[in-house]
Amino acid sequence: MAQRFSDEFLAELRMRCDIEQIISSYTPLKRRGKNLVGLCPFHNEKTPSFTVYPESQSFFCFGCGAGGEVISFIRRAENLDYTEAVRLLCDRCGMVMPSEGYDNSLAEKRKRMYEINKEAARFFHSCLFEEQGKAGLDYYKERGLKKGTIIRFGLGYAPDGWRNLLTYMRGKGYSYEELYEANLANKSEKNGKVSFYDSFRNRVMVPIIDVRGNVVAFGGRVLDDSKPKYINSSDTLVYKKSLGVFGLNLAKSTKEKSLILVEGYMDAISLHQAGFDNVIACLGTALTSEMAHLLARYTDEIILSYDADDAGQKATDRAIGIFSSIGMKVRVIHLTGGKDPDEILKKYGPERYRSLIDGAANDIEFELIRLRKDFDLMTSDGKMKYLERAAEVLAKTSVIAQDIYTSRLSEELQVDKSRIAVRIDQLRRRTQRKEEGQKYKRIQQDAMSQNTKIALKNSTNIRAVKAEERLLGALYRNPDFYRGIKGEIAAEDFSVGIHGRIFTLLAERIEEHRSLELTSFSQELAGEEMDIFVQIIKKNENLNHTFKVCSDCVQVMTEEREKRQQNVSAATLSDEDFLALINQQKKGI
Ligand code: UTP
Ligand code: MN
Repeated sequence: MAQRFSDEFLAELRMRCDIEQIISSYTPLKRRGKNLVGLCPFHNEKTPSFTVYPESQSFFCFGCGAGGEVISFIRRAENLDYTEAVRLLCDRCGMVMPSEGYDNSLAEKRKRMYEINKEAARFFHSCLFEEQGKAGLDYYKERGLKKGTIIRFGLGYAPDGWRNLLTYMRGKGYSYEELYEANLANKSEKNGKVSFYDSFRNRVMVPIIDVRGNVVAFGGRVLDDSKPKYINSSDTLVYKKSLGVFGLNLAKSTKEKSLILVEGYMDAISLHQAGFDNVIACLGTALTSEMAHLLARYTDEIILSYDADDAGQKATDRAIGIFSSIGMKVRVIHLTGGKDPDEILKKYGPERYRSLIDGAANDIEFELIRLRKDFDLMTSDGKMKYLERAAEVLAKTSVIAQDIYTSRLSEELQVDKSRIAVRIDQLRRRTQRKEEGQKYKRIQQDAMSQNTKIALKNSTNIRAVKAEERLLGALYRNPDFYRGIKGEIAAEDFSVGIHGRIFTLLAERIEEHRSLELTSFSQELAGEEMDIFVQIIKKNENLNHTFKVCSDCVQVMTEEREKRQQNVSAATLSDEDFLALINQQKKGI
C-alpha cells in the first residue's frame, strides 16, 4: 500500500489547492449559482454536465459519473498514481512532500527514465557533430535545417551499429533492462540467452519533449527511402502515445491565439524555423480526444494543416469532428501547390504559408469547398445536387452562419436566397426532431443512475441499494448518528460491495474522531469507488436526515439481507421447504 498521508497534511493541501482554480486550468468553468459548470474533461460532451462544488471542494459529472476531490481529479486528468498526484499538487502550491514512509518506487523509476531519455538525447545530439554522425548532419543540411534549429530542437543521430547507445549508457550507470523499458533497446532471445541491442540505428533522431520540458520519447527517421520511414517510441512509464504531441513545450508560449496542427514533426520543425512558433504535430498516431482535451488547455482555436493527400484529408475530417465536439474552433488550411507544409515552405517561402493561414477556411467553408469539387456547377443538375448537399451542411450550423453562407451561395449560383433558406429550414427541423428523440432516449438512460446499473448488474435489490445510499449519505452528514446504529450493521450487510467498503471507512474515521473531508478518503477510494461515494453525497446533500431515517435504513437493509440469504439457500432447499419459504415471503410483502 502506498503512503498514508496524515489527515492534517491532506487538509492543508486541499486548502491550498483550490479545486476551482486547479480544474479551470483543465476545462473552462462558468459560475452557476454557488457552483461551477463546464465541459467534462473525462468524456466527450457538447453541453456541460461537469459540476464543481467549491463548498465541499468536490466535482461530479452528471454525464459520465466521474466524481471526487482535487487529488482524484489530478490522478485521472494526468494519469498518475496517488503519490504522484499529491506530489504534483504540492509542487503547484509550494508545499513540501512528507518524505518518509511511503512507497515511491514507481515515481523513482519514472524519474530515472526521464534521466535516461535526457542522457540518450544528449548522446544522439553529440554524435551529430562527430565523425560517425556526419551522415546525419548532412541529412539535416540537405533538408535545409540551420544549426540553431538543430540545437533548439535537440536533434540528433543514432549511429549505425548495434550497441552504440547501449555501451554509452552502460558507462553512465544504466542497465540494459532499464534501456529496454525506456524503449531505447530491443531484446532478443536465442537458445535461452537474452541479448540487447539499440532500437534506433542509422537514423536521424528527434526527441519528443513534453510540456514540462522532459524528454519522454523519440522519433527516428531513415536517411534514405527505406522502410519503415519513421520509428516512434511506443508507450512507456513516462510516455503515452495517445497523448503525445510534438512541440507543445515551445508552442505553449506563442503569442498567436491559435495553434497550428501538422502531421509530422519534420513539418513542425521547418515551420518553427520559418518563424511559425505556434506549430505542433501529432506523433504518428491519429488525433485522439484525449489530445484534443490537452490542447484545449492551451488554445481555443486549432488550425489544421495536414498533408494534401487523401490520408491527410481523411485525418482532417476526423480532427474537425473531435475538436468541434469539445467546443473548440477549427480552421483548415487548404494546401495548394505542394504535398505538405514543409514542401510549401521550400517551394514558395514562408509568406505563402502565412497567406494560407490567413485564408484558412473555417470548418463550414472547408466542407463547402470540398463538396463543390464533386459537382459540375456548369450544369443545372450539378448545381441542384450541390445546393442540396450544401443545405444539409448548413442545416447543422448556427442561424448566423446560415445567413452568411446562404448569401454567398445565392450569389455564387445565382439562386434566390430565400429559396435556399426555406430548404435549409426544412432540413433543420427534420434533424432537430431526430435529435430530440435521441436526447429523450439518452435522458431516460441517464436516469438509471450508475448505482442502479451496478445493482442490476449484480442483480441486487433496488430497495437495499437505496437504503444503503441513504444511510451512507446520512452518516456522512451527521456522524453522530453512527453511535446509535453501531453494532447493528456491518460491511457484509451491504448488498453493494463498494457501499460496504465506504461504510467501514466512515465508521473507522468517526470512531477515531478523524476528519471526514473527502480529500482524506482519496487515498483509500480510487476511480469508480470515489465516483460512487461522491454521487451518494450529492444525492443526499439536500435531504433532511434524522436519526429515524438511519434506523429505518438499517431495518430495510437487515430485511433485504435476510431475503438474500434465503435466496442463496433456496437453491439447496427441498421442494417443501421452498414452498414454505415462498409463502412466508408473500406474507411479508
Ligand atoms: P509522412 O510520410 O507524410 O512524413 O508521414 P513527413 O512528415 O512528410 O516526413 P518527411 O518529410 O518525408 O521526412 C507523416 C507523419 O506520420 C508519421 C510521422 O510522424 C510522419 O511525420 N509516420 C510516417 C510514422 O510514424 N511512420 C511512418 O513510417 C511514416
Ligand atoms: Mn508529409
